[in-house]
Amino acid sequence: MAKKKTIQGFDRNLASYGDTGFSRYLRRAFLSSAGYDKIDLDRPVIGIVDTSSDYNTCHRQMPEMVQAVKRGILQAGGLPMAFPTISLNEILTSPTTMLYRNLQAMDTEEMIRAQPMDAVVLVGGCDKTLPAQIMAAISADIPAVSVVAGPMLTGSWRGERLGACTDCRRMWARHRSGELSKAEIDEIEQALCSTGGTCMVMGTASTMACVVETLGLMLPGGATPPHASGDRLKNCVASGRQAVAVAGMGLKPSDILTPASFRNALIVLMSLSGSTNAVVHITAMARRAGIKLTSDDYNAAAEKVPVIVDCKPAGKGYMEDLHRAGGVPVLLKELAPFLDLSALTVTGKTLGEMIAPVQPPGEWQTTIRRLSDPLYPGNAIVSLKGSLAPNGAVIKAAAANPELIRHVGKAIVFESPEDAIARLDNPELGITPDHVMVLRNGGPIAAGMPEAGSLPIPRYLSSQGVKDMVRVSDARMSGTAYGTIVLHCCPEAAAGGPIALVRDGDLIELDVENRRIDLLVDAAELTMREKAFRPPPLPARGWARLYAQHVTQADEGCDLDFL
Ligand code: FES
Repeated sequence: MAKKKTIQGFDRNLASYGDTGFSRYLRRAFLSSAGYDKIDLDRPVIGIVDTSSDYNTCHRQMPEMVQAVKRGILQAGGLPMAFPTISLNEILTSPTTMLYRNLQAMDTEEMIRAQPMDAVVLVGGCDKTLPAQIMAAISADIPAVSVVAGPMLTGSWRGERLGACTDCRRMWARHRSGELSKAEIDEIEQALCSTGGTCMVMGTASTMACVVETLGLMLPGGATPPHASGDRLKNCVASGRQAVAVAGMGLKPSDILTPASFRNALIVLMSLSGSTNAVVHITAMARRAGIKLTSDDYNAAAEKVPVIVDCKPAGKGYMEDLHRAGGVPVLLKELAPFLDLSALTVTGKTLGEMIAPVQPPGEWQTTIRRLSDPLYPGNAIVSLKGSLAPNGAVIKAAAANPELIRHVGKAIVFESPEDAIARLDNPELGITPDHVMVLRNGGPIAAGMPEAGSLPIPRYLSSQGVKDMVRVSDARMSGTAYGTIVLHCCPEAAAGGPIALVRDGDLIELDVENRRIDLLVDAAELTMREKAFRPPPLPARGWARLYAQHVTQADEGCDLDFL
């Protein structure tokens, strides 16, 4: 096979021995020990980032997926070379995968840079794995195709359809309120996650998969096939083939990603009523591409686009429904009036060329609605500012209680996620449904920014039927969660943000319509409190210390400042 200029194969990234000929000769000798002959070595080398891990149940069938990617690469004349990286599972990683997203991004970027490959297929899926891989691919900037694990299929309990993790939370709240017994919640525990794959609601994994497909770094239709399906494996094979093609074209992330492609991604995010975590991840990915996204960019998209995807937590469907309805290509077809269709994709075609033959949403389904018949009129995720969050905060308005999106209440402050766990259910705190529960020291510096922002309703209130309250924090929340919850308050408490100064009984005003979150305490009093503020100590050593010293705030994507 004649080599194109962009193909260097195993001659790329030679180990340094001070003699190029020796490095090449030694590399070929060692590859020979693995059975590679001249025919193999003349092919384009396609790396495959394999995030299989016994600790990552969302990637359970990834070994089979990697085999399918290899098949596609071989069919197209390439040589597949799979290699492992860190793999992060939301549920099995303490204290939070967010603390390790940038570590996975560094691991992936450095292995792409250090090893010989003409293109790379990134196989990820569980929440942080996908943005980490995309951040890495943007910084390494070699031709790249993204593949995701795909969602789990839904389960059921006593005839009720269930999916992780919106229904996990809903059922747990019913158990906390005494509505479901221990025996019943034990049965539900066994029914929530019926297959391998990522959470099957519009949580972070699903949102990011749809966003990455919109950005053009994934094959059309790649975001939604369920993990356990033949469609998923076919996407893997096709992605392997496409990786060889992009290696030949030399089509890199820097050729594909532009301000227009990121604006398209924000349009899709809002139409999905996607995860608030996506705001942090998209901002970080854009920053890696040299593009600065601000709260105005997010609000501009939110204002113009209604929610038209009917998936939990904002709606009622699941990812398998979205897939059956045609997935992201059909969604893009409907959103076309809002999109820049000249944006390039990994297929080598523009978004417009890609969706030209796609049919609009059919009336036979209800998961992708028409723009004329939206699920929610707009402003799915609203970026807020105000005296409590001068650099911004977000709320998923589409999943909030309409009666609470304008609210003034007295603060009840928890010093950390641990403090909230210890005290929240104590009736002596006297929390009422009108209180605003404030959680601080859940930000990136203080705690790695766990998904602790969706504080549970105190048990003594939930047992009286209280289902939602205003909650405010510098932490994140799961994309599968819902409620009137203000997140990502910036700067965080550990960086001296105003959230550090709130005291029990202070009045807090939330006004989503006017995009405000304010602490109603006079300036002189706040200046006095500021003088007494002392930041918490940094972790003593290791990754946690490096992270705390260099992590940026949520409005900059929580990336490390040197990346
Ligand atoms: Fe992996 Fe939800 S825990 S996607």
